Amino acid sequence: MLESTMLFGATMLVYRGMVVLAVALLVLSRAGAEDICTVGNEGLECTQQTSKLLIQGGTVVNADYQQQADVYIEDGVVKLVAPNLKAVGGVRIIDATGKFVMPGGIDPHTHMEMPFMGQESIDDFFSGQGAALAGGTTMHIDFALPVDGDLAAGYQAWEKKAEKSCMDYGFHMAVTKWNDDVAKDMEWLVKEKGINSFKFFMAYKGALMVTDEELIQGFKKCKELGALPQVHAENGDGVVEGQTRMIELGITGPEGHPLSRPPVLEGEATARAIRLAKFVNTPLYVVHVMSIDALDEVSRARHSGQRVIGEPVASGLALDDSKLWDPDFKIAAQYVMSPPIRAAGHSQALQAALSSGVLQLVATDHCPFNSTQKALGKYDFRKIPNGVNGVEERMHIVWDTMVNSGKISVMDYVRVTSTACAKIFNIYPRKGAILPGSDADIIILNPNATTTISSKTHHSRIDTNIYEGWSMKGNIETTISQGNVVWEKGNLNVQRGKGRYIAMKPFGYLFDGLDKVDAAYLTSLKAPVHRAS
Ligand code: URP
Ligand code: ZN
Ligand code: ZN
Repeated sequence: MLESTMLFGATMLVYRGMVVLAVALLVLSRAGAEDICTVGNEGLECTQQTSKLLIQGGTVVNADYQQQADVYIEDGVVKLVAPNLKAVGGVRIIDATGKFVMPGGIDPHTHMEMPFMGQESIDDFFSGQGAALAGGTTMHIDFALPVDGDLAAGYQAWEKKAEKSCMDYGFHMAVTKWNDDVAKDMEWLVKEKGINSFKFFMAYKGALMVTDEELIQGFKKCKELGALPQVHAENGDGVVEGQTRMIELGITGPEGHPLSRPPVLEGEATARAIRLAKFVNTPLYVVHVMSIDALDEVSRARHSGQRVIGEPVASGLALDDSKLWDPDFKIAAQYVMSPPIRAAGHSQALQAALSSGVLQLVATDHCPFNSTQKALGKYDFRKIPNGVNGVEERMHIVWDTMVNSGKISVMDYVRVTSTACAKIFNIYPRKGAILPGSDADIIILNPNATTTISSKTHHSRIDTNIYEGWSMKGNIETTISQGNVVWEKGNLNVQRGKGRYIAMKPFGYLFDGLDKVDAAYLTSLKAPVHRAS
């Protein structure tokens, strides 16, 4: 029944010029092995699912180092990364010769099952995560929304939605108003519930939008708790004015959406949020940077030494707004998201900023609505639910636009799709790395295979795909989540309820040294002046 085999592997490793003698002791057993069968293209296909895996012959890429090495995984954790590991009995061997073995993607920005604009985004935690895994993303951080302004109720609602999860996930929480209860709940969420980031919407007036006063109070509380404030940066009052202007001009179709919220409104809000963050002396994370205008503000702030993180999304990096003028409403409406996908030129600037390090990580803002939901705005673009797909496509789109084009290295690809996110949200090196002790969330990418994206083959519930027909070199052939092979040969093997909530601790690296800046500020005041009465 229970066979055990011992294997000694002794190997010379070279790590950054140092020669290291690594002695690998692996205990291999049959325990935990089971057959998993799925209906694939060629009928019933069975693979042995074991808690022990050895990925052999690939190039293992971390954000700071790549090497020819094998990866040994046991019980969901990476145990060893070294060349020439050998295994016997009970260990499943995966051949990665000629392929890249990389940390699974982490998408820092998704909206599963989100109630928004009278609709609910069409992917739930199970379907959205299945899509993510098929596309090489093994963890995401979803935006929980308060229920009627109540953060605790919002957290509980998201906890419930996420029970069906099949991969690891975390939460950000939105703050949509300000009072003592909100402040107390923020504290509870950080100290008891593993949330270390809060999002403030500067747009969506009358729904999610906060005022500058609320933004300042929220930033102060975030700083006190060691939680990262995030902003959706568009001037919400300006957007309402822009929408009215378009309707008065008789522009009611999807093209009215980008015309009503031009880059200047994104640039203004980004600048305002950055300056308020400087005023409070807190780090800031700007979600979905879509335009040169916003990018310039992030760039200026970073060059001045301010701690600002800029997050582009796959759609902004890879697409332009031309489809919003498509005569077919169904096609045009698919591309409606906020801030809007911009005119040609903005995406190239975002790509350049990503390669130069002005922007740090790529998200998706996955918030899919199907064509019947989008049709609610057929005669008024203001009613088209905002959001696009991307959680399944991000890893391929970034590979194609950034690596295939020569704009970034493969190590930088790992950084912008996984490692930077893990570091910013304080879960590195458990996530975002292939190192002994890291979670075995791993992808194998074949740079010579091809991929074509289509709504006919994708795994999301959405009936359209903004990347329809996108064909490219490079294919994520295998995804390993928690040490289990969940995607291979085009088949998805996922289990409802297997996903784990990943608690994220406050006071990540972005908070280091803020106290010194505060102290210097207080000294610089030279006040109060003590005057003789
Ligand atoms: O259009 C978008 N981005 N929908 C999701 C909500 C948000 O603003 O992130
Ligand atoms: Zn947003
Ligand atoms: Zn979003």
